[in-house]
Amino acid sequence: MIALGRRVPEAPRIPEAHRIPAAPAETLGDHTARQLLRLCEVVGLGPADAIGYVRVVSQALGPVAERPLHLPSPDGSALSDDHTPVEYSLSFEPGAQPTLRVLVEPGCGAGDLARSGREGLRTVRELARRWGFGTERLDLLEDLFFPASPQGPLALWCALELRPGGIPKVKVYLNPAASGPERARATVREAMRRLGHQRAFDALPTADGLLYFALDLGDWDEPRVKVYTAHRDLTAAGTAGLSRMPGGPGAAEVEAFFRTATGAEEGGYGLPDRRPVQACHAFTGPAGGGPSGFTLYVPVRDHARHDGEALERAEALLHRYGIDRAALSDALAAVTSRRLDDGLGLIAYLALARQQGRPPRLMAYLSSEAYRVRPPALPVGAAGR
Ligand code: TRP
Repeated sequence: MIALGRRVPEAPRIPEAHRIPAAPAETLGDHTARQLLRLCEVVGLGPADAIGYVRVVSQALGPVAERPLHLPSPDGSALSDDHTPVEYSLSFEPGAQPTLRVLVEPGCGAGDLARSGREGLRTVRELARRWGFGTERLDLLEDLFFPASPQGPLALWCALELRPGGIPKVKVYLNPAASGPERARATVREAMRRLGHQRAFDALPTADGLLYFALDLGDWDEPRVKVYTAHRDLTAAGTAGLSRMPGGPGAAEVEAFFRTATGAEEGGYGLPDRRPVQACHAFTGPAGGGPSGFTLYVPVRDHARHDGEALERAEALLHRYGIDRAALSDALAAVTSRRLDDGLGLIAYLALARQQGRPPRLMAYLSSEAYRVRPPALPVGAAGR
């Protein structure tokens, strides 16, 4: 019984200064660290490697890693659709564990592209010092890709291939249009010439633009120089002439990849304003030869209604190449807990790569979605996964 006349005591008032602060807001660094730790586990990297790589990515991001997630991405990185300056990818080969890679924009948040470029160069040189590799090939190109007033959409991106042992292989991506789109061809031609690939430029296919110029740095058996070409409104038949690699993938193989990745067999589902398909032409060996590698990238998110559909396409391809399918769905679960049919763009690209003397590889590029999930293209009800 409640004794009459007794007052329920009021909650004591806590003086302002004694309030326990609310849990600090999650930062971009927390978000990507959580994803990366889980992804490392999916590909069989041990905890020591995983923690080391989380640290490297956070250092590469710089101050942006501390930024609370409720604030928008600074400087609107072009690296991903929602401007997260981080993207993951898995590279699959028959009979082997997939390799985890992470793409980062080190200068994101530097304020403008010129500063971003300087920050990017500083970061790459710091990684080079830490792991004892040279940056001479990058240094040779600095004036070409880092003009005083650079144009967008990027200054420098850096990808790390996360190998067991804690020392990643490093790739650097530069903008051929840094001095303006009209200078892109001349810039790439000159960069190739300086790196000893005098005739490489003439081997490139006709394209709707040169998007990236990339260099392998660090511990590679055969470091590559790569040029990325854009191809708008490409058809399956149109993929045939894109590979300029002697002994490269057959037209039928590339076409079959394209058909499956774009969903052409299912009648296709094209969103308006689709991103171009991209091709990468890799040059390694003796000057004068054609490219020794070819990769085709399909922006699967512009050809599917939701990520469940994109995953089905990826799984069909993995199956075709005799690659175990489990790691990819595990990787998606490592990155997000949302339903796959609730969004579109978690799988950004699917790619097929051929490199001379190596088995074919398939790649899936996974968005971090730190800031935004793109809605599905059509309501699909309960039909998806
Ligand atoms: N977000 C850009 C694009 O969609 C750049 C990019 C990120 C990209 N990852 C990629 C391009 C993988 C090709 C393949 O084009």
